[in-house]
Amino acid sequence: MIKMVKIFIDDKQLEVEEGLTILQAAEQAGIDIPHLCYHPAFPPEGSCRLCLVEIEGIPELELSCSTKVREGMKIQTKSQKVIEARQGVLEFLLAEHPLDCPFCDKAGECKLQDYYEEYGLFDSQFDEYKEKRDKKVKIGKNLILDRERCILCTRCVRFLREVTKTQELGVFKRGIKSEIGIYNGFPVNNNYSGNLAEICPVGAITDLDFRFKTRSWFLEKGNSICPLCSRGCNIQIEYHPGLGRFALPQRVYRVKARQNMKVNSFWICDKGRYGYSYLDKNRTSKLVRPNINQKQDINWDEVLDYLTAKLKSLYFMNKTSQVALVLNSWLSNEELFLARKIFNEDLKVTNIFFADLPDEEGDGFLLTSERSPNKRGAKEIGWAYVPFTLEALAENEINCLLIFGSFFEQLLNPAQLKSALGSIETKILLSSHRPELESAFDLILPTAVIAEKEGSLTNTEGLVQGFSPALPPWGESRAEWKILIELAKRLDINFAFYRRLSSPELIYQEMAEEIPFFRKEK
Ligand code: FES
Repeated sequence: MIKMVKIFIDDKQLEVEEGLTILQAAEQAGIDIPHLCYHPAFPPEGSCRLCLVEIEGIPELELSCSTKVREGMKIQTKSQKVIEARQGVLEFLLAEHPLDCPFCDKAGECKLQDYYEEYGLFDSQFDEYKEKRDKKVKIGKNLILDRERCILCTRCVRFLREVTKTQELGVFKRGIKSEIGIYNGFPVNNNYSGNLAEICPVGAITDLDFRFKTRSWFLEKGNSICPLCSRGCNIQIEYHPGLGRFALPQRVYRVKARQNMKVNSFWICDKGRYGYSYLDKNRTSKLVRPNINQKQDINWDEVLDYLTAKLKSLYFMNKTSQVALVLNSWLSNEELFLARKIFNEDLKVTNIFFADLPDEEGDGFLLTSERSPNKRGAKEIGWAYVPFTLEALAENEINCLLIFGSFFEQLLNPAQLKSALGSIETKILLSSHRPELESAFDLILPTAVIAEKEGSLTNTEGLVQGFSPALPPWGESRAEWKILIELAKRLDINFAFYRRLSSPELIYQEMAEEIPFFRKEK
């Protein structure tokens, strides 16, 4: 049984769990105690000395990151004595710290800068020259170390010791000469190296991928789920909202880990962190009829009417055996459920296949071998996972082909694919990215990526996680669930059922009614 203790922080009475540190108890109560070396993923180190607090009955100030709460403890976090001590610690930390803020990548999100703003703003009493140290040491494929900015909090060393267990970094030399470094010739090259730049509380370790490209205060932030494997790591996407009439070289600048103790703790792998180019590159932005003069613009209503007429005529002629549907596991639970209802149950389409990116090796920690985020969801929804092949098209005399996603191109021989598509009357692609074989399709419908839409995914362990749009949609792109609902209403086979499903939330509720697996909290 959890034992609770009564404590007072800044005269506020709190009941907190026994065993917590003062810093943790204060955080839970929304009381901010400055700290640099403490990180919730590691045991306290006690090196920065910034988290000092006053405890009644104890003459010295104590470290709140390593002192545990005790019954009746009375703690002051903002007394004059504490503030003066904090200013003293800050002055010592800054005595060796360069005045790099105008061009340091961490500016705007640097804890040292924030705390100086809050507690410092003093004139330095140091007349001595600052110690000169190495400014630009490459310590990993994407990591640059600036030794002048380092405050020796050792978060990076502890991450590599306790999380990846690879121990590429250490503290070398002694006293004022102490510095972080790699062992000769062994840089930080593990698949989680990007986390070091994220947990560095100052600008000592910066990320080559982000360095000098933009300033952190220009970026908007949105929460999403990483789709690059089936772990479902929680991420934060940082993007530039644009600058009026100036075209931007880039929209998304950075992906960071978002804490979720059930899935990824505080971390993400480098594949998820640096593999974000799919969000901006090679996207489909307009409805396209590749073989027709593009000056004749088309709109979503026309496209959906055309698709509905085609499917309806085959349905009423009892010829939906000539329809083939290709799905993929980047579709959300809601979209895969809708696809099952519309194509499998209403239209009686049986030629339904999956085309996903091929599996690769996992790394035994967060990165799984699957390169799709929702294979488990597809299985729980009841899809038999039949891989898409050209033989399947030929065997079933397909006349109308609908493909979701452009992953199929990586699985098939391009020449054979082109010739197979050439013999099919109607070929429609719904994809967020432009295919190589663009001209082989009659219609290309731009779709949203996971970061631009709402829904849920089921990770490899069966955890269902909801997500909301982190980014605005790209061009004319639409989420597949919206396209499917519009199509279902136009088909009018079961209008009353689909009319109610106006959001992913309502689709999920319907899915949970039918499939017990989804009767759990997202
Ligand atoms: Fe307590 Fe650094 S956070 S000593």
